[in-house]
Amino acid sequence: MPSSPRWVEAVNNALRQHPEHQPTVYQVATVDASGHPRVRTQVHRAFHHPPDRPDLPLLVTSTDARTHKVTQLHASARVELCWWFPGTQDQFRITGFAHVRPAPSPSAPAEPTPIPAGATALEMLRDGGFDWDAKRREAFLAMSPGMRASWCAPDAPGSPLGSYEEQKGWPRRVPAEPETEEDRKNWEMSLGNFALMLVEPVEVDWVELGVKPNRRTAFKREGEGWVEQLVVP
Ligand SMILES: Cc1cc2nc3c(=O)[nH]c(=O)nc-3n(C[C@H](O)[C@H](O)[C@H](O)COP(=O)(O)O)c2cc1C
Repeated sequence: MPSSPRWVEAVNNALRQHPEHQPTVYQVATVDASGHPRVRTQVHRAFHHPPDRPDLPLLVTSTDARTHKVTQLHASARVELCWWFPGTQDQFRITGFAHVRPAPSPSAPAEPTPIPAGATALEMLRDGGFDWDAKRREAFLAMSPGMRASWCAPDAPGSPLGSYEEQKGWPRRVPAEPETEEDRKNWEMSLGNFALMLVEPVEVDWVELGVKPNRRTAFKREGEGWVEQLVVP
C-alpha cells in the first residue's frame, strides 16, 4: 500500500505538539469570478483519503453552504491555504482543489461544487460511490450546540444586518437531543445549511523556522507519488 507523504506526518506532528496554541486554524484563499483573491480563516477537522490511498490525502473542513466562498468555488476550484504552527514554528502552504458537499436535498442553499480534472482523490471517492452525506452528518453531530446555532442565521453570512438587536432572536444552541419543536426546526435548518469542504492538495511548501539554519521543502504530486525538493528558505 502506498504511504502518506512526509508533509502529512509533519502536519500531524505539529498538530500533536503545543495544543495550547490551538493549531487547527488555517487561512484558505479562493479566487472569485473576477479573478480577485479572497481569504478567510477555517478550522481543520480531519484528514481523509480514498480506501488504501493514504498518498492521496484530503483536508476536511466545513462551512455554511450560503457563504461567499461556496459561490467562489463554483467559479474556480483552485485554493491555497496557509497554516502556521506557532509552537513548532512550521508553515505549510497547501495548494490544490476544493470541493464543497452541501446537503443533498433539492432545497439546499447550494449544489456540490464541480470536481475538476486532476483532483484524483475526489474523483476516486466519487467513482467509488463514497457517501459524503454520511460524513457530513457525522461532522455535524461532532459540532458543539453553539457552533450548530451559527448555521441558523436567517440570512446568508455576509448579507446586510439592520442592527445587533435582530440577532437577539436567533438560536443560541442547537442540542444533539432536541427537546422542543423549535429545537427540531433549528436542527433541520442548521443541518440544511451545513456543508463539508474538502481540500485536495497537489503542492505543499513547508518552511521550518524551528531549526537553524531554517529549512524549506517543496512537495509536488506527480504521477503516482509525491516528489520532494529541498529549496532555499
Ligand atoms: C478562528 C476562526 C475559525 C473559523 N472557522 C471557520 C470554518 O471552519 N469554516 C467557515 O466557513 N468559516 C470559519 N470562520 C469564519 C470565516 O473566517 C469567514 O468569516 C466566513 O466563513 C465567511 O467567509 P466567506 O464570506 O469568505 O465565505 C472562522 C473564523 C475564525 C476567526
